[in-house]
Amino acid sequence: MSVIMRRNALTLHIIRLLASGDYLSGECIGQQLGISRVAVNKHIQKIRGWGLDVLAIQNKGYRLAYPLDLIDEQRLAQQLDTPFYYCPIIDSTNQYLLDHIKQLMSGSICIAEYQTAARGRRGRRWYSPFASNLYYSMYWQLSQGPMAAMGLSLVIGMVLAQTLHALGETEVKVKWPNDLYLQGKKLAGILVELSGATADIAHVVLGIGINLNMHNIDPDIVTQDWAKLDQLAIDRTSLVILLSQKLQQALVVFEQQGLKPFIEQWQALDNFYNCPVKLLMADKEIKGIAKGINQQGALLLEQDGIITAYLGGEISLRAN
Ligand code: BTN
Repeated sequence: MSVIMRRNALTLHIIRLLASGDYLSGECIGQQLGISRVAVNKHIQKIRGWGLDVLAIQNKGYRLAYPLDLIDEQRLAQQLDTPFYYCPIIDSTNQYLLDHIKQLMSGSICIAEYQTAARGRRGRRWYSPFASNLYYSMYWQLSQGPMAAMGLSLVIGMVLAQTLHALGETEVKVKWPNDLYLQGKKLAGILVELSGATADIAHVVLGIGINLNMHNIDPDIVTQDWAKLDQLAIDRTSLVILLSQKLQQALVVFEQQGLKPFIEQWQALDNFYNCPVKLLMADKEIKGIAKGINQQGALLLEQDGIITAYLGGEISLRAN
């Protein structure tokens, strides 16, 4: 057990006791864990700090404002055909895989209930309330080298969108290069990180955060309009299993054939296809009409009838 898990074992135990959404008295929790009611209360404060609403009613005890859909580790062990690391609490699922790359097989995944230091693109933080959303990372050894990582992140976005479509969420769109959108708001983000790449091989960790049941946001961290999928047809464990299968299949195709087989699919999923957009770069802003992507995964922008390709991690796309 990791240090962070050991340090938080009692708090995690209390969350499991409360997960059903039923009332439990402080005394009853204390008895089960062998701690005082005052100590129980301290853990409850900590749980609130992890983004969960805990109600406290005199003579009844504590209950969560809504039941939790915890990841079922046993079911993952039975149904995933890839190594996985289930870490209820972790700094960042991406960081966990990056720290263990030497021991990992391509396709290994890490899933968490709560991340204490989750990161987004461009050094931003990623809000990760306990058991509310999906926090998922996969390690992939990319034989085409680091240059292929850009295309890879587009493929991941398409796979996520198509998987959610198959579950009935047909309004989900992709936004170049790394986001999923729902009704014009950010639903999910993708963070692709590379480690120790040589010219011909890249060790890639692809991190995915999907908003599912987020109730309260931290406005210091979540600064964009956001959407969530709180009526998803399947539970989070099934989503992990399904996504892992779909990602593996697509990544094998991508390794063999590159972005080519995916380009046509992009257009139908693109939130901004044929729409007026602006590209934000370090020192300038360019306006035009979005025209999809090219074979390298660059964004195509039309200005005065001329189409120009834009590529690079430091470009942000916005509606104009
Ligand atoms: C973005 O900025 O849009 C990308 C967000 C990526 C968040 C996910 S959550 C799982 C994985 N672990 C992290 O620390 N970040 C990614």
